[in-house]
Amino acid sequence: MLPIGPLMIEHRLIERVIQDMGAELSRLRAGSALDPPYLATIIDFLRTYADRTHHGKEEDILFADLAERQIEPGLAGIMQTLLEDHQRARAATGRLAEAVAALGADGEGVAAPVEGTLAELVALYPAHIATEDRRFFKPALGYFTRHEQEDMLQRFRKFDSSLIHERYRRVAETLAQRRLDPIP
Ligand SMILES: [Fe+2]
Ligand SMILES: [Fe+2]
Repeated sequence: MLPIGPLMIEHRLIERVIQDMGAELSRLRAGSALDPPYLATIIDFLRTYADRTHHGKEEDILFADLAERQIEPGLAGIMQTLLEDHQRARAATGRLAEAVAALGADGEGVAAPVEGTLAELVALYPAHIATEDRRFFKPALGYFTRHEQEDMLQRFRKFDSSLIHERYRRVAETLAQRRLDPIP
């Protein structure tokens, strides 16, 4: 498998969730109540999967390796835009999490910032993914030999293998912190 294989498979899963977020946004715009457990699931997906797992491999491995090559200015410009998209997605997810944290457990509260950030993310991800799939990944791979591509695929796998441990170490730390500082 080429190293862009896992990244493109991850794109398909991100697209499925983004599509679902679009459906949820339509539901909210039709006047339905906010759904905090749904939003918590979305925030976890965006942070753990879309950002840490997927953008993590792109930024820490593929983009980092490319940055060490003399790549043509057009491709370098696309990579810069992609990095900015990742930052915008991270910032929007952070704003979504803040808006959700401000809601009551039953979802009562201000809907506008939740709808606004959902709309931003639903617009951002598909365009970003289309640029990577159609205009970036293939020319990017052209800068690496077959052996280098195989090595990159191995590093992607190693990167992925650490993440489930990282995720649940953080859960354990959060639980320990709650025990030290219980909710009144
Ligand atoms: Fe990306
Ligand atoms: Fe991507």
